[in-house]
Amino acid sequence: MLIIENLHVSVEGEPILRGFSLTVNAGEIHAIMGPNGAGKSTLAKVLAGHPHYEVTQGTIHFCGQDLLALEPEERSHLGLFMGFQYPVEIPGVSNFQFLHSALSAKQKKSISEEDFRKILEEKMDAIHIPRSFADRDVNGGFSGGEKKRNEILQMAVLEPKLAILDETDSGLDIDAMRIVAEGVSRQMHGENALILITHYQRLLDYIKPHFVHVVVEGKIVESGNHTLALHLEEKGYALHQ
Ligand SMILES: Nc1ncnc2c1ncn2[C@@H]1O[C@H](COP(=O)(O)OP(=O)(O)OP(=O)(O)O)[C@@H](O)[C@H]1O
Ligand SMILES: [Mg+2]
Repeated sequence: MLIIENLHVSVEGEPILRGFSLTVNAGEIHAIMGPNGAGKSTLAKVLAGHPHYEVTQGTIHFCGQDLLALEPEERSHLGLFMGFQYPVEIPGVSNFQFLHSALSAKQKKSISEEDFRKILEEKMDAIHIPRSFADRDVNGGFSGGEKKRNEILQMAVLEPKLAILDETDSGLDIDAMRIVAEGVSRQMHGENALILITHYQRLLDYIKPHFVHVVVEGKIVESGNHTLALHLEEKGYALHQ
């Protein structure tokens, strides 16, 4: 589904990713861990199509297409979803409007407001988001934890083929993390794939990855199964640096 080969990415002339390769097949959950500044969020931003990040070498294919040749919107319509470490606020646009137009665009048909409200409320109830949040501006005045929950709501509505969640666990209290993790797990059925960027083993107790990768200085230096995350929790990254 996703094939990243020998990816090199620079930001303002500074190389950040240096030979990053990863293959994600349908149905797989991959966890990406690694020290601060290793390039994990950079990877997420390149996949999303952020203009600041310059790909200097390598290729990315998603569902058989050259991802780098596609606009961010086209990537999302193909079924790529990105949950960011620091979700942005969109003043003047309500959660309802935003998700309504995103889903209509993705499905290439107009969905009536009434039908969409039913869809949205069902998803909101499932991840314990108060229905009143539908009519608030996207992330406007949301607490850190509420923004993360809202991301999972976006994911639940859009039902992407591949979701990349960057530190979805950060800033969540213990109960919220469980709810978010359950919300994500519920969407992981059949062919859907997931890349979880996280610092902590905790989240992986709820969403068990098939593979864990350690990124250091812009590339994967070790891969293993879920036990690698337990190992890292104990030993840290010292051995990799
Ligand atoms: N827009 C930018 N301008 C300048 N430097 C950047 C930019 N984006 C990323 N970098 C640099 O690239 C490096 C990797 O950053 P990145 O955010 O990808 O790390 P990370 O692995 O996600 O770290 P963390 O675990 O702290 O979230 C850092 O040194 C960062 O300062
Ligand atoms: Mg990061």
